[in-house]
Amino acid sequence: MTFTIDRRRLVLGAGAGLAALTLPGGVSLAQGLLAARGFTHGLASGEPAADSMLLWTRFVPGGNADAVRLTAEMATDAAFAKVVAGGSVQTGGWRDWTAKLTVTGLRPGTTYYYRFIAPDGTISATGRTRTLPVGPVSRFGLGVFSCSNLPVGHFNAYGHAALRGDMDLWLHLGDYIYESGRPQPDAANVLAARVLALEPAHEILALADYRMRLACYRADPDLQRLHQLAPMIAQWDDHESANDSWEGGAGQHQPDEGEWSARKAAAMQAYREWMPVSDEPWKTYAIGDLATLYRTESRLLGRTRQIDMAPALAAGDPAALAAFRDGPWQDPAATMLGFAQEAWLADALARNARSTAWQLVGMGTITGRTSPPPQIVDWLRPDTAGPRVAFWRDAIRAGRAGIPMWMDRWDGYPAARARMLAAAQAADADLVMLAGDSHNAWAFQLAHDGRPAGVEFAGQAVSSNGVETGLAVDPAIVARGFVAANAELRWCDTSRRGYMMIDLTPQRVTGEWQFLNTVAERDLTLAGTHRMSVERGRRIFAT
Ligand SMILES: [Fe+2]
Repeated sequence: MTFTIDRRRLVLGAGAGLAALTLPGGVSLAQGLLAARGFTHGLASGEPAADSMLLWTRFVPGGNADAVRLTAEMATDAAFAKVVAGGSVQTGGWRDWTAKLTVTGLRPGTTYYYRFIAPDGTISATGRTRTLPVGPVSRFGLGVFSCSNLPVGHFNAYGHAALRGDMDLWLHLGDYIYESGRPQPDAANVLAARVLALEPAHEILALADYRMRLACYRADPDLQRLHQLAPMIAQWDDHESANDSWEGGAGQHQPDEGEWSARKAAAMQAYREWMPVSDEPWKTYAIGDLATLYRTESRLLGRTRQIDMAPALAAGDPAALAAFRDGPWQDPAATMLGFAQEAWLADALARNARSTAWQLVGMGTITGRTSPPPQIVDWLRPDTAGPRVAFWRDAIRAGRAGIPMWMDRWDGYPAARARMLAAAQAADADLVMLAGDSHNAWAFQLAHDGRPAGVEFAGQAVSSNGVETGLAVDPAIVARGFVAANAELRWCDTSRRGYMMIDLTPQRVTGEWQFLNTVAERDLTLAGTHRMSVERGRRIFAT
């Protein structure tokens, strides 16, 4: 799809947002965010369907109003010569002045322009969106993002994607924000100016904190542009609440930080206020007869606690690791999606594999199994701290015992993984997993029961640091080591940031990792790409 819109109109229309806010000396960004009035954060669209679209904006009125009613307009031309759909929505302080409205009665596979109008006559910027197609579809483009950590890098991946004209839809697989407080400006891989722009300064715990953090991220101009130009399907991973979260807690949630249930509820509320998402916990999206896209939830609603391999490792005895591998690790009660969602996914795969060519499952964490190359300890930087060295030594020992290393990923939920892949095989699905979380780029060929089950395109971070930060050798050597150590892994890159472009046709799915030149400054230069594809019915990568 090629857009012919006058780009200046959208740029100029974006105008007054906080992105352009120049704060006088002594005024913190937090104060600026709290004092902002009008359409403060641009607009966004999501939850695409063939005949409807969810529209998002945020409007803070002047004065003492405690509520405001906004009008939305949609047109097929950027000048709004003829408004073809719309509606109105109320918002107020109870929902942080964010507004969401689902507009219905739209035509499939159609580009629409939309805007909001406030009671005082203020008109928002113009957004562009596109409904999903129906029937035969010859080509569809998806831009896939994950892990955008504001203080460690510029969102060049968002900026680059926003400039292209060949994408129909964005998919964000999580870690859209991070919950940590400001890192030390002198720490490695931290950008001082972006550290200072991070609000609140402390780790976020309460509803007001999560709202402020989202307001801060959404002030980024590249992220605003991304949302302005195409719809986004978004699902959270762990950092939208806290690191390594599960239904009943999180690795990064401590007893002195209050009840987890309260923090979890706050994180979910703020996310649903600030993102162009519905409250449905998981969902499918039909891309004509070409593909079904699955939005999943693998953190807060049904995930059981990550299993702890440490006791088996501490025993220092191969028998203890073997007992762990053959016992607790394979617990069938361990689940990442929860049993209700597992059943939904199996059922939906069976149904949709009969009517759409590809089953694209968005997942917060990686399904492909990972063990480290045995040489990795020799590749660590000389100043690597002792516990980090021990971490890798333990992962190598686990790998020798046949246990992959990441217990927070599907590595730690092997029975649930087997159920998911068996369901895809039973459905005769052309399964394509799309994953984030790891911060590096990986291509896995998934297998179950000795047979191919599908492929996985795992995307590198928008800005978060990857495994390379601890290593002192050529990334090409690291990549060869990982591929040699893992039967399911066909390719990886452990050095660069960016996003994935997923190109769908009836015959093949092509994933192209887009590597940006840097995140240390704002620079939209592409440093390289890597492309892999899978043919219909093959379930392994084409060579
Ligand atoms: Fe992440």
